[in-house]
Amino acid sequence: MSETPIRTGSLRGIMMRGPGLAETLPFYEDMWGLKLAHSDDGTALLRGTGSEPFLYGLTEGDVFGIEYVHFAMPDRTQTDALHAQCVAKGAQVLGAPAEFDDWAGGYGFEVLDPDMRRLRFRTEARQLPEEPDWSKPKKVSHVVLNTPDMEGVQAWYEDVLGFRTSDYSADQMVFLRCNTDHHSIALVRAHYASVNHVAFELPTIDEFMRAIGRMKQKGHVPTWGPGRHGPGNNPFAYFVSPSGFVIEFTSELQQIDETTHEAQVWPRDNPELMDRWMTAGPPTPAQRAVMQGRPDPGWPELAQRNRGAAE
Ligand SMILES: [Fe+2]
Repeated sequence: MSETPIRTGSLRGIMMRGPGLAETLPFYEDMWGLKLAHSDDGTALLRGTGSEPFLYGLTEGDVFGIEYVHFAMPDRTQTDALHAQCVAKGAQVLGAPAEFDDWAGGYGFEVLDPDMRRLRFRTEARQLPEEPDWSKPKKVSHVVLNTPDMEGVQAWYEDVLGFRTSDYSADQMVFLRCNTDHHSIALVRAHYASVNHVAFELPTIDEFMRAIGRMKQKGHVPTWGPGRHGPGNNPFAYFVSPSGFVIEFTSELQQIDETTHEAQVWPRDNPELMDRWMTAGPPTPAQRAVMQGRPDPGWPELAQRNRGAAE
């Protein structure tokens, strides 16, 4: 019998990378509802209304993509155990657990997933006083990743990081959880690795609708939604950021009971199971295109390129 793997704690957020991202800061502050928590050379860190030091980071780089996906661990013991599990499973860890010397601080490590995405695990991070503010995002709900090897990457997140499969959307998408949230990560079958979208959670559905209203009043209508998904049962409204990243407002994500939940395959040939309110309709070809994202070569290639540039 195999032992239960050590599980990833929760999703903290994500650091995005690309050319000119700093110029998009006003969009996230004035419209999306985040606040600048900290900035230093080439990086801006945006917080939500909760205690997390940042939900979304913008860092300068010549390739659009993910700088790292950011996860929380409950304590050092669990962090060390997850690191040991990564090593035992042959994952590509970037050093041993150590203190971070960045603004968010704390202790942890990094590992590359099979698509060469950098994942950062951190415990004892800086905590901010909560700043409740109606209709502003409180946390990052989930990150959806495009991958050329959906089954392989799914198996890796399960085996190495202790994720569990919550549901499938036909044979095109798999939803993975690390705690009671129906999904913190989802994978989409694609031709290349890239970011599909990042979803921000509003505490209530009223706030979700008001956040859409704020965007609309400022001239940004959703490119898809509002609607309510089948898998996860969460309301959705998708927007495209000024730099071309797809971002989502969501709320009321299904909470999983481990004792009773069984993953199911949600069909795509029943519109009402895809779009439970029947308000959104299917994504347009333009929406699908923008969700394909721009190819992200991942961490080692970038590191190599940066080294090359420095020489
Ligand atoms: Fe989503």
